Amino acid sequence: MLPFLLLLLLLPSSSTALDFCVGDITTPQTPSGYHCKSPTKVTIDDFIFNGFEQPGNTTNIIKAAVSPAFAAQFPGLNGLGISLARLDLAPGGVVPLHTHPSGNEVLLVVQGSIKAGFISSSNSVYYKTLHKGDIMIFPQGLLHFQINAGGIPSVAYASFSSSDPGLQITSIALFGSSLPSIIIEKTTFLDHAQVKKLKAVLGGMN
Ligand SMILES: *[C@@H]1O[C@H](CO)[C@@H](O)[C@H](O)[C@H]1NC(C)=O
Repeated sequence: MLPFLLLLLLLPSSSTALDFCVGDITTPQTPSGYHCKSPTKVTIDDFIFNGFEQPGNTTNIIKAAVSPAFAAQFPGLNGLGISLARLDLAPGGVVPLHTHPSGNEVLLVVQGSIKAGFISSSNSVYYKTLHKGDIMIFPQGLLHFQINAGGIPSVAYASFSSSDPGLQITSIALFGSSLPSIIIEKTTFLDHAQVKKLKAVLGGMN
């Protein structure tokens, strides 16, 4: 037994270590991310993302744009447990209550002011108006929001503890999906007229 253990200690431990696993986004995503692109096909451009150079388009119902640099958009960070997003909020803009099921979030405000908050799983509420230079944490999986609080376009960058943190907006999940109205009414205590009105705004079916 002892000689066997010594042999294990002598084996080079780094021989199978992967420095990176640039995602092959032509293949389906797995629970641990994308399969790795062949290292012989990896180039410097796999490690660079240019999608934050322009503001996101905020001409939409929420007057906001979330531009993700998750593994699907930035394959170089596949498997590294990190990712980013740019957030643009026009005056009156809001990122409605949403969750990132798979990652903690750190948000840095770089322009304007943003009222941001989250609700804990014991329903304690934490919110504050953030100004340029302020940073706030949103723990994994908790419902949270960001609202323009400055009257001017606001910009923030979020980083996540996952290369694919996910993004689910609660109102769109409810009123922009195919969940039948009768089930929404039963599970939310909203009445039929309220559900129909929200579905008309957010595109829900059934
Ligand atoms: C922004 O989005 C709106 C609505 O989809 C579209 O009409 C407009 O052309 C877009 N603007 C730019 C600069 O892409």
